[in-house]
Amino acid sequence: MSRLLISFPGNELMTDKIGAALKIERAAITIRNFPDGESYVRVLTDVNGKEIIVVAALDRPDTKFLALVFLLRLLRDSGAKKITLVSPYLAYMRQDKQFQPGEAVTSTYFAAFLSACIDELITIDPHLHRRSSMAEIYAVPCHALHAAPLISEWIRASVPLPVLIGPDSESEQWVSIVAKNANAPYLVLEKQRYGDRSVSVSFPDVAPFRSHTPVLVDDIISTARTMIAAVKHLREANMRRPFA
Ligand code: R5P
Repeated sequence: MSRLLISFPGNELMTDKIGAALKIERAAITIRNFPDGESYVRVLTDVNGKEIIVVAALDRPDTKFLALVFLLRLLRDSGAKKITLVSPYLAYMRQDKQFQPGEAVTSTYFAAFLSACIDELITIDPHLHRRSSMAEIYAVPCHALHAAPLISEWIRASVPLPVLIGPDSESEQWVSIVAKNANAPYLVLEKQRYGDRSVSVSFPDVAPFRSHTPVLVDDIISTARTMIAAVKHLREANMRRPFA
């Protein structure tokens, strides 16, 4: 089965890198908004009988999702044999339970919408916290790639005497692996979240790491309050300037 890549708008650079590595051409599409805000979607290359790999990072998902679904449906209707979505940043992974009565568990709903339109999903380090695998939410085969080996390699090559810091218990799953492969020690802080833009993190015990360079590792910076709270403590403790 021959393959074609499609770049969802904004993903051209990454799509072309994938295309160059795999020697796959990019199909032409048009996605734009009508003056009233509705989406216009057109595929200009013949996709009939082909595997189509759509590259779409899903940060700020609400502004992208409907156009993406229109594109995926159109591909199916145009005869695409297999539709693979490559979404390095996969949205709606964090609301994975009802924290308060009446809340929507949006990770389940989002996964159901997406699973209905694709045959396979490839992502990087999905935020699995209370769920142990993507198969618990997605109905299609998912492949989770990991950035940890590359981050470890970069730390080994670039940071003298590193100490890795995870700003909350959820980050331990990444920070522990990155630290192990970078041959570095790590600390995990305790985080309290009071609201979207209000967090506090515990003061790290940095006494054994005075001469180390802190490297903060987390899976997402959204408002950056988590990172800022952790960095503040490192400065107060007179640690070296950290990497994130
Ligand atoms: C928590 O679930 C994540 O791993 C991040 O720590 C968090 O989402 C960061 O959010 P913010 O940048 O808004 O503090």
